[in-house]
Amino acid sequence: MGLRVIQGGRAPEGPSGLLIEGAAEVVTMAGGPRSGTALNDPSALVAPADDFRDPEAPAVACWDGRVLAVGPRHELLPALEASGYPLERFARLDAAGGTVTPGLVDPHTHLLFGGSREEELVLRQRGAGYLEILAAGGGILSTVEATRAASPDELLEHGRRWLAEMLAHGTTTVEAKSGYGLDLATELRLLEIAHQLGEEGPIDVLPTWLGAHAVPPEFRARPDGTEAYVRHLLEEQLPGVAAQGRARFADVFCEAGVFSAEQSRRILEEAARLGLQPRLHADELAPSGGAELAAELGALSADHLATPSPEGVEALARAAADDHPVVAVLLPATTWFLMHDHYAPARTLIDGGVPVALATDFNPGTSPTASLPLVMTVACLMLKLTPSEALAACTVNAAAALGLAEEIGSLETGRAADLVVWGVPTHRQIPYWPGASLVRTVVKGGRVVLG
Ligand code: NIG
Ligand code: FE
Repeated sequence: MGLRVIQGGRAPEGPSGLLIEGAAEVVTMAGGPRSGTALNDPSALVAPADDFRDPEAPAVACWDGRVLAVGPRHELLPALEASGYPLERFARLDAAGGTVTPGLVDPHTHLLFGGSREEELVLRQRGAGYLEILAAGGGILSTVEATRAASPDELLEHGRRWLAEMLAHGTTTVEAKSGYGLDLATELRLLEIAHQLGEEGPIDVLPTWLGAHAVPPEFRARPDGTEAYVRHLLEEQLPGVAAQGRARFADVFCEAGVFSAEQSRRILEEAARLGLQPRLHADELAPSGGAELAAELGALSADHLATPSPEGVEALARAAADDHPVVAVLLPATTWFLMHDHYAPARTLIDGGVPVALATDFNPGTSPTASLPLVMTVACLMLKLTPSEALAACTVNAAAALGLAEEIGSLETGRAADLVVWGVPTHRQIPYWPGASLVRTVVKGGRVVLG
């Protein structure tokens, strides 16, 4: 195989590199976001005859926080020397027969909130509907009350705790939505804390403004409540959020009974005008025009899609064919935890050429899991993704859903050196052992941050 190594590297002193050796398999996900049959190709390098000590077994070289090269060890080491990277400058990490993959990317989380909602699990077991609980002032609204009452320190502690949990499951980048403040001051606080958590590291945190998550209590009493809140979003929240400059994306819960497609369009168009890239909660509970709107707006992603209309699926397929793909971010752990029967039509979307990603949707109501490997298991069982497809959906395609496929999500020369060493010999075992702790080591920006 031809190895590509960037020339240079003669930094003054000390180790600047990291060399990961002894892997039974290195999954690179090289070659960009995947759709159609390519979704099933992980671009993996495998040790010959299952012998991870074989000189032809794959190794990964990182330098200065970036991936330098991936290839068979016996080719990689001389190529490094020849390109000006002395081997003694590399710290060594022994994968000991494990699997190396890109760090997982979680492109849809509601990371920051106060309180918890375990009582809703029992209400739903007894037949209460999700929107019914919300209409009665529970659901999102009870979390809004707890979040408004939480101090910044409490929210920071909560964020650190759950980011640590995500890291322990192999996640190295997350998107984090606001949306449990629903007033300008609390929304700004959530976005600021999300930003601060990213600065603390090691996980990168990308904040999304989700002021349009629900209509807050102070607007609900009014007959024109939803419309008045939409005006508040457009005239007060959004300008304040844009001026703060922390949010990178804007999201709307576009759902019959929450925000209509027309209201969502107004909010997301204005957000885009102010520099926030649009993404949507689309067609989670009923066909609501969300997929169609995502395609029309050229959103980065349409998320959930448990119940899109046939026209919505067609619109996403057309966008992909026209080279303006909207990533379908599927959240099967949510459908599972809501005990709904109707899962996103993943195979139809894949057959239609739509790039598919997966996310946890981590939140206190519908998906209190921080584990992408668990989501991969549910995706394999309920969406019928193969394990290779599920991993592509949590790495390179998830990066694309955040507009970051050139930066993270694959192990290729020049990409961020974010990777995971798993204690299993093939990536196909990651979703195969649900609930097990499979992460052995996490590397973020070329540094070992766990393990
Ligand atoms: O993606 N559906 C809207 N938002 C979240 C749930 C939020 C909540 O119930 O607190 C979701 O499922
Ligand atoms: Fe969500």
